[in-house]
Amino acid sequence: MTGEDSADSAAGPEASAPLVRSLRFALESPRAGRLQAALTLASAPLDWLDAHRGGFLHADEEALLADRLHARRRHGLLIGRYAAKRAIAALHPDLDPRAVAIRPGVLEQPVVSGEGVGALGISLSHAGPVAVAVAFPEACPMGIDLERIREAHIELLTNQTTPAERERLATRLAAPEAERLTRLWCLKEALSKALRCGLTVPLDCLALGGVERDAAGLSVTFAHFAQYRGLSLAGGDLAAALVLPRPPAVTVSAEAAAWEAWRSALAEAAARGRDDE
Ligand SMILES: CC(C)(COP(=O)(O)OP(=O)(O)OC[C@H]1O[C@@H](n2cnc3c(N)ncnc32)[C@H](O)[C@@H]1OP(=O)(O)O)[C@@H](O)C(=O)NCCC(=O)NCCS
Repeated sequence: MTGEDSADSAAGPEASAPLVRSLRFALESPRAGRLQAALTLASAPLDWLDAHRGGFLHADEEALLADRLHARRRHGLLIGRYAAKRAIAALHPDLDPRAVAIRPGVLEQPVVSGEGVGALGISLSHAGPVAVAVAFPEACPMGIDLERIREAHIELLTNQTTPAERERLATRLAAPEAERLTRLWCLKEALSKALRCGLTVPLDCLALGGVERDAAGLSVTFAHFAQYRGLSLAGGDLAAALVLPRPPAVTVSAEAAAWEAWRSALAEAAARGRDDE
């Protein structure tokens, strides 16, 4: 990665201003050449998003709000689209976000369209007022997930994971059990989004393979999808995972400082609270 960290926290004195941090990175692929992707974290209250949505939503996205009457669902759609548009802006700063549409595909996966975006993919995830999104070239499919770390989920997550993968993670990650399990879960869900299947497959299909530490934090492989790797990050009570093809298909050389800055933003977003979660 030519670690370009386009940090643009707009936190400032205005309490309701959004927090945004984008990390643009390069990918080297023997087949597809040099590619660019951008990872964005955004956090904003629903009232801010509602007041400013005219500045970033496409008309088709505005129409999607008609089905999201509950505040929680409305917040999810708005913060997810906002994070996604900021990730796209990190790659295409001249594009008008209102001219770019992210519509649900037939599998409910996000599909990007608009003049000038090219063959771009998006994956996104929201948790209350916070969302993460990754904008990537379709040549290099990716998936992303974000979850709150909650003690109350330990039993559920233990039932959804295997002893072998839990043990593998525990040997590499000295963190409380709830964090380990949530990071494990995020990695599986991010893989399911990269594959476009979501959590409709037996969870064992998404099982972890190896686990090691790297510049991004924690890097994993998957038992049944040898083409992919997962990067796991956590800050405060938020856990995030990014899944993308692994070497030799594509190489991401991560600068530890860029990942650390992004992880700090995750911690800052976590500290801002949960709003309507
Ligand atoms: C995809 C899934 C794992 C998302 O998990 P979640 O914890 O509910 O929500 P997250 O916030 O992490 O992610 C939500 C985003 O995932 C994306 N998404 C939904 N389905 C997806 C899929 N099949 N592949 C990739 N991404 C998907 C969407 O962008 C969605 O946000 P949006 O609706 O605001 O655009 C889950 O909804 C699932 O398993 N869906 C399967 C649904 C399915 O297969 N439907 C088939 C209909 S024919």
